[in-house]
Amino acid sequence: MATRIDSIGNLRGLYPAALGDAPVLLFGSHIDTVPNAGRFDGILGVALALALLRSLGGRRLPYAIEVIAFSEEEGVRFCLPFIGSRALAGTLGAAEFARTDAASITLAEALTSFGLDPAADCAPLPRTFAFLEVHIEQGPVLDREELSLGIVTAIAGQSRLSLTFRGQANHAGTTPMRFRADALMAAVQWITAVEALARETPGLVATIGTLAVSPGAVNIIPGEVTCSLDIRHAEDKTRKHAVRRLCARAESIVQYRSLHAPVTVEITETSTQQSVRMDSALTLALEAAAQRTAQPCRTMPSGAGHDAMIVAAVLPSAMLFLRTPNGLSHLPDEAVRPDDVTAALTLLSSFLEHLPPNQR
Ligand code: HGY
Ligand code: MN
Ligand code: MN
Repeated sequence: MATRIDSIGNLRGLYPAALGDAPVLLFGSHIDTVPNAGRFDGILGVALALALLRSLGGRRLPYAIEVIAFSEEEGVRFCLPFIGSRALAGTLGAAEFARTDAASITLAEALTSFGLDPAADCAPLPRTFAFLEVHIEQGPVLDREELSLGIVTAIAGQSRLSLTFRGQANHAGTTPMRFRADALMAAVQWITAVEALARETPGLVATIGTLAVSPGAVNIIPGEVTCSLDIRHAEDKTRKHAVRRLCARAESIVQYRSLHAPVTVEITETSTQQSVRMDSALTLALEAAAQRTAQPCRTMPSGAGHDAMIVAAVLPSAMLFLRTPNGLSHLPDEAVRPDDVTAALTLLSSFLEHLPPNQR
């Protein structure tokens, strides 16, 4: 394979076709992950793509295959997910390159200091006709139904917000409760409202993954608290309505708490991604491969976000899931079963061999 690092740091390797100037299948997933992660989220999709090419034993197909390992999907460092796939899709703009990490380094500076040119293009190769991503389910469905594989129909949309509640730091011992403007108590009241709304709205999931309290001493009333919100739903309308309701709730809570000293809230939407349907022709081709290889599997939506939801804006995209034992992911217990990997390789080998010419 001819390998390269593109201008956003994606690792890319081209396995040529039998004949030159052939169509190209883009095949891969992300290479980054989250703190205290498991060992399979993202990287399994890259490893399986390479394993499939290795199983060809040098034989060429009527189309080329470009394996891609996206540089940044989780959005941990810059609070901006899907950087690698957004660059490929051409949806990264000046605002995104100006995003800073905890050390106030911008994304553009990080790329430049790594020796990359952020302004350079990293589009799909000419004649790329589709994108395939293989990934662990990261949820309990396949495990509960005792299935190795799932074919993804759609990926839920997600919104990520940052909220900063500001009150009045003060002495923990001398400040009567009725005179406090406690930023943390305002945040806690809102966080409780987040959980209540998610529990009463079918299909809505909401997570407060980070919470920073300042000044952060046992005997000081918190003056400033910043927390994150990750909220998702298969229907964009429901997700957006929930975001509006929770923003309004935060405003009403701080208003109510500003009796003796102002409590305020600053809300920033750090990223938002619409829900995306996978390409129906490719999904049918995956189902046909499952039948040909007698691999029991089911179609299903994805609650987790994936690069495929970004690439789908520029290429027909499809996803295959592998069972996640106990539904545990984004933690060291994340696992895959070797027999499920074998099932995936069997199905995908057949998929590659029978990819309909009109898909190319
Ligand atoms: O958060 C997610 O949905 C994925 O792990 N990036
Ligand atoms: Mn992940
Ligand atoms: Mn992932």
